[in-house]
Amino acid sequence: MPCNCCEMENNTFGEDEAKANLKDYRKRGPAKQTRLILEAVRSLGLKNASLLDVGGGIGTIHHELLKDVASEATHVDASSAYLKIATEEAKRLGHDAQVKFIHADFTDVADELPQVDVVTLDRVVCCYPDFRSLLKAASSKSRTAIALTYPRETWWLKMGIAVANFIQKLRNDPFRGFVHPVAEMEALLNGEGLRRVSTRKLFVWEMSLYQREAVRS
Ligand SMILES: C[S@@+](CC[C@H](N)C(=O)[O-])C[C@H]1O[C@@H](n2cnc3c(N)ncnc32)[C@H](O)[C@@H]1O
Repeated sequence: MPCNCCEMENNTFGEDEAKANLKDYRKRGPAKQTRLILEAVRSLGLKNASLLDVGGGIGTIHHELLKDVASEATHVDASSAYLKIATEEAKRLGHDAQVKFIHADFTDVADELPQVDVVTLDRVVCCYPDFRSLLKAASSKSRTAIALTYPRETWWLKMGIAVANFIQKLRNDPFRGFVHPVAEMEALLNGEGLRRVSTRKLFVWEMSLYQREAVRS
């Protein structure tokens, strides 16, 4: 599916948005749905793990998990503005040497990346039209687990996103949001050898943790 992803993400996830996100993070800590990912990853009991955060935004997940769970992280993001802020914050926290920052559409570079213990995608599948390619690439990189958040598949969220997309169209902005079918995402991840071990729901967001079957048995 055609997706001029980096250009699109740089318009939508620009510097002002990145700065506002950083301000919130410094003031209030990780957002609620991000906390669900952090708790899920911590529940695996890993130490010195390797992490791949796809669409990591300002880098909250690696800023947090490098404190106790991970010893190295890769952050791939289509937005250069987010990556810039994430890099500056990693430097400020003294973690920058442990993080590799890559500006790209993840599906374009996944083949070149090594496998890691844990892959995270926090509010990313909903920004990407082709969830199958994204999740297939993400699962191919995960030795142990994937944790992701996505919008709940409710009629009112589908309606809300359809209205937001219509406004985007009127503005000539190519960015679109997506409520992807949860059962199809699960079937795809199952097909890649991952089983759902927990799901938690907020008003808008749902978080699911998938673990590799060979690791669980
Ligand atoms: C809604 S923001 C979420 C940022 C962060 N994970 C958070 O929850 O605060 C979506 C992020 O995913 C990135 N993104 C979306 N599709 C991507 C792709 N295919 N490859 C890399 N990054 C992607 C965007 O650039 C943006 O930084």
